[in-house]
Amino acid sequence: MNLEDAQHRIEQLRKEILQRNYEYFVLDESRVSEAVRDALKKELIALESQYPQLVTPDSPTQRVGSVLSGRFPKVKHKSRKWSLADVFSLEELQEWEERVEKGVGKTELITELKLDGLNITLWYEKGLLLRALTRGDGNEGEDVTHSIRTIRNIPLRLFEPIDLEVSGEVLLSKKSFEKMKDEGFANARNAAAGTVRQLDPAVAAARELTMYCYSLGETSVDAPETQSGILKWFQSLGLPVFAKFEVHQSAEDSIHFLKKWKKNREDLPFEIDGVVFKVNEKAKQEEMGFTAKTPRFAVAYKFPAEQTTTVVEGITIQIGRTGAATPVAELRPVLVAGSTVSRATLHNEDEIARKDVRIGDTVIIQKAGDVIPEVVEVLLNLRPESAKNYTFPTHCPMCETLLERPEGEAVRRCPNGECPGRRRESFIHFVSKHALDIDTLGEKVVDGLIEFGFLKDFADFFSLTKNQLLELPFFKEKKAQNILDGIAARKTIELHRLLFGLGIRFVGEQVAKDLAKFLNSRKQSSEAIETKSSEVMQLLADCTQEELEAVEGFGERIAESIVEWARLPHSRHVMERLSEAGVRLRWPTQIEAREGIVGKTFVLTGTLTRSRDEVKKEIEAAGGHVSGSVSAKTDYLLAGEEAGSKLDKAKELGIQVLSEAEYNSLKA
Ligand code: IVH
Repeated sequence: MNLEDAQHRIEQLRKEILQRNYEYFVLDESRVSEAVRDALKKELIALESQYPQLVTPDSPTQRVGSVLSGRFPKVKHKSRKWSLADVFSLEELQEWEERVEKGVGKTELITELKLDGLNITLWYEKGLLLRALTRGDGNEGEDVTHSIRTIRNIPLRLFEPIDLEVSGEVLLSKKSFEKMKDEGFANARNAAAGTVRQLDPAVAAARELTMYCYSLGETSVDAPETQSGILKWFQSLGLPVFAKFEVHQSAEDSIHFLKKWKKNREDLPFEIDGVVFKVNEKAKQEEMGFTAKTPRFAVAYKFPAEQTTTVVEGITIQIGRTGAATPVAELRPVLVAGSTVSRATLHNEDEIARKDVRIGDTVIIQKAGDVIPEVVEVLLNLRPESAKNYTFPTHCPMCETLLERPEGEAVRRCPNGECPGRRRESFIHFVSKHALDIDTLGEKVVDGLIEFGFLKDFADFFSLTKNQLLELPFFKEKKAQNILDGIAARKTIELHRLLFGLGIRFVGEQVAKDLAKFLNSRKQSSEAIETKSSEVMQLLADCTQEELEAVEGFGERIAESIVEWARLPHSRHVMERLSEAGVRLRWPTQIEAREGIVGKTFVLTGTLTRSRDEVKKEIEAAGGHVSGSVSAKTDYLLAGEEAGSKLDKAKELGIQVLSEAEYNSLKA
């Protein structure tokens, strides 16, 4: 990039950042997350450090701290409110731990979750809640007492009549945020901030905010000498504390806490954005002191962002197994939530038009959990003049067939059943996790098998030979055997997996399960536990449109699609061949729903009087689910003797714990 380009980009970035900051800090209505503002700022900082001559005093990079919106009266804090220095990697964390050790020697550390909400400071005088302030610039905050008083877990009176300044985080649970999805907030944190800053306290009251306390300011009495002692003291005063903190004797120990919560954060009822590490002893904290903005005795390890910005370098079309032509943004690679992303879905033609995505645009992308990264929004201020409108192709890029767009549908499709793009995707779907789940067969292997002509239909997976596999590039004996073993292990599978894997339109996982149950009720021999695909084919062919429509959860569309599929000679051919290849399908087990159990999710822990497997089967046969780990979705924890960490976790998440006797009475 030359100086002129840099100048242009810098100006665009500043404009965008100013606008986003204004929306966020002043209007409280930003729809983008902090990570996006950070990403823009990072790009600006990088450019400004490359071209220092372009730095101006009004650049957003030159501002320290945050702005106040001016909507509420400002009040000075009793003691300065610090923020935390961030680290983003284990190396940086270790560097901090080394600095601590150098400063105060080997020392106890406390780890807390970094709650992702809004920092609020409470003042109690003689035990009564007098005032609640936002952090503001650290010296003075805004008086938001009217909203904060509506938060139900904040005591209006402490158990002791003392003076106390205490800070913590105000949060909106994932569940409550879910309920206000339509109000346009990017995440629970923005929603919590927006709620607290509402003028009408009734709004805050209705939205179920929660607060957890973690920092002591001024107080009229002698407080405990350690951070862990202070947290327990808060609890004894009636203040809410998020119980999941731990004290560690060594730095290595503390890393376990980090790893555990990085993995389990989804299970929490609230969002967290990292883990906070603090020196536990007050005396040592004071010894380490502060830098201009942050304490040296504490640091925040931030989890990787889930939203960021990047540039669209191209738009390509991907043909799915049903022929759907999905536009994909080819991106300048960026790191999001710990992995590099270079493609993101644009969903369909109308979405491209609605978001007005053009090649060359800077966009916000996001990645949440397992889902495919998507383009959220275009940053119009950053659009280069050369950016051109995108025109959707009229023909399939794989087989050149004219794409069809049925009226009323958003998606264009390739109607050619033999389209190589469609066939590839169907094979990949067939072996995927929720279908046949042959995990030794990755996309690359499937591509190789197609290229060498070894895959004509699904049954071919089951007649592959080692010699065929050894013909593929980079294949050795061991890898070939591994793949054959993986395939052989899935020769007998649950019927619904095959029904899903076949790729019948509108037959998703749930429909496949319901269809398997329906076929089960019509099978020949009621005793059989497994069958061949040829029998399944016959049963499917015998179903009428009306019968299928009558299945609960099925509509005309699904019924029609199944009937149509069953009529195709190709379907019969594939099912016959799967039979011949030795594929066997397990009928679903009968479920007799029991009122206390049906639809509920159980977790089993500790020693029970019967084997866990037996209890699991019993729960499943009564229509319940058994999961391996406790999360917000768990309904009951069935705890036997010597229950351990799962019990702690269930208590912490407020999940109902059952003894074996209580479970037995639930069954009755
Ligand atoms: S301690 C002296 N502990 O993170 C340090 N902060 O960047 C004061 N936060 O403004 C903060 N969870 O809003 C602390 N367990 C925790 C926290 C936490 C979330 C937030 C807080 C603070 C920001 C620091």
